[in-house]
Formats: sequence, structure tokens, C-alpha cells
Amino acid sequence: MAYSPAVTKAVVPVAGLGTRFLPATKATPKVMLPVVDKPAIQYVVEEAVAAGLGNVLLITGDGQQSIAEHFERALDLEARLAARGNQRALAAVRAPTELARVSYVRQDSPRGLGHAVLCAADHVGDEPFAVLLGDDLIDARDDLLARMIAARQRYGGSIVALMEIPADQVSAYGCAAFKPTDDQDIVAITDLVEKPDPNEAPSNWIVIGRYVCDPAIFPVLRETPAGRGGEIQLTDALRTLAVADRDVCADGGGVHGVLFRGRRYDTGNKQDFLRTTVEFACARPDLAPDFVPWLREFLRNLP
Ligand code: G1P
Repeated sequence: MAYSPAVTKAVVPVAGLGTRFLPATKATPKVMLPVVDKPAIQYVVEEAVAAGLGNVLLITGDGQQSIAEHFERALDLEARLAARGNQRALAAVRAPTELARVSYVRQDSPRGLGHAVLCAADHVGDEPFAVLLGDDLIDARDDLLARMIAARQRYGGSIVALMEIPADQVSAYGCAAFKPTDDQDIVAITDLVEKPDPNEAPSNWIVIGRYVCDPAIFPVLRETPAGRGGEIQLTDALRTLAVADRDVCADGGGVHGVLFRGRRYDTGNKQDFLRTTVEFACARPDLAPDFVPWLREFLRNLP
């Protein structure tokens, strides 16, 4: 049986302060920092659209007008570029405006990822929806979100994406315990812990920043107390849905995990941001022919 309705909406929380990137993030939202020549948020919206989710809600905070401006027409700039006959630049300026139907909800106070997702309740209504975190970029060649949407259609409930990492790194992430299903790369979640102490982690499989949530998450989030870091955690609400007796949680309960072995790029801290930038540059046909030989030479000469 295929669970319905279909997933059509994406929710992207972007209100974070980006404190690790100050002063760059003093006047520029973190998700507007460029990875090569596109702000991180544009990659994320492109990923949502590629998975068929053309309705994108951004959960924003203070001082983030530039995000909305990025997805709106810039008529003066377009006129100037047109006057110069610069079609390439014109296409780059227009592309983000033509991508998706982007709308915004304001998160009045930063009370955690769970609270940010709760701000989407009115917009989402009674439908399953995807959540994409702007710090994680998933390679466009790895169709993770499409696999997660297919898993939702097959199993119902909510879906998380799981990645295996070295055990000494799990305390930076949400971490899952699970059991197999008949599908090789889909598991049934039995426990979720947000940022566990390494010796208490249920496994070394972490939750990465892609989710498909059943709308049943909203009433659960309203009842979820502040958890790790004093914040309302999406992981805690998903745990409630994962462990709830299906009879008690009649609709929308159950959480499955899609095992992901593809390419995830983290932009949430400086080291990973730099690595991501270099990896993206090396994969770009317009840049790699010059950049890669230079990089090799640079590394050879590095003391
Ligand atoms: C968030 C989630 C965490 C998840 C991570 C993925 O944490 O709370 O469960 O593993 O994203 O990037 P954050 O990075 O916002 O601290």
C-alpha cells in the first residue's frame, strides 16, 4: 500500500546565528555564505526541487532579509546586466528566482530545531513534509531525498537519513538504534538520542540533516520539553514517534531510516566548510582544469 498524501513541501530552518563563522555572519546569514559561487541555501533549495518539492518554506530569524532577496527578482541589477549584454550573469541572477515557490515564516526566538519545525505547522497542514538542514549539502548525484520520499510512501510515518561515522564523532549528532526491514537499505528506528555521550551512543549511525516527517510530529513537538542544550529537539520528538505503540499513536507513528552511503558535505564548521569548498571546486568542469593542478602543486610545496 502507498501512504498518501504525497510529499510536496520542504521546510528549511535557517534562523541559526552562525556564531562559528563570525564576523562573516555578522551581517550575512550563515546559509548565504558561498560554496564556490552559490550560497549554501541555493544548493539546498535546488535539492528540494530535484526531489519534486517545489513548495519551500524557510524558517527565518532576525536580519535575514538577504535570503528573501536572493530568491526574488533584482530588477535593477537585471537591467544593468541586460544593458551590458551579459547573458551568463543575467541567467545566474534569475536562476534562484525561477527555482521554487519560496515562502517564509519567522521564528521569533531561537529555541531549537524542534521549535523551528513547529513554526511550519500552519503552512504544512495535515501533510507529510521534508525538512532539509542548510548546514548539510547532499551531492546532487545521490538522490537521497527521493529515496526517503519513496520510503515514506512505503512505510508511512516519518523517515530519517542515517550515515555511519567513526564512533568518536557521534556525540556531535543525533544517533539511532534500529532493526532491519525486508528492504536492504531501510531500517526501523527503535531509539534516537540527540548528541549522546560516546559511551552511551546506541550505535555509530547518525541522523543527517534530511527528514520526511509525518504531520503527527506537530502535536508531539508541542509536548516535547527542552532537551540537549536546553533546546526543543526534533530528535526527541521523532524518538517519541519511533517508540510509541502504534495502537496509541494510531496515525503517523513509526520512524524508519534510509541508510545513506553517498556524499554528504558539512558546512556547519570551518574545517568542513573549507573541505566542502575544495571538493566542490574540484568537481566543477569550469574550474577544475585550472584549480586541480594548482592545488596539487600547492600541496607539494606545502612545508
Ligand atoms: C542537528 C540535529 C542532529 C543532526 C544534525 C545533522 O544538529 O539536531 O540530530 O544529527 O543536525 O547535521 P545541529 O548540527 O543543528 O547541532
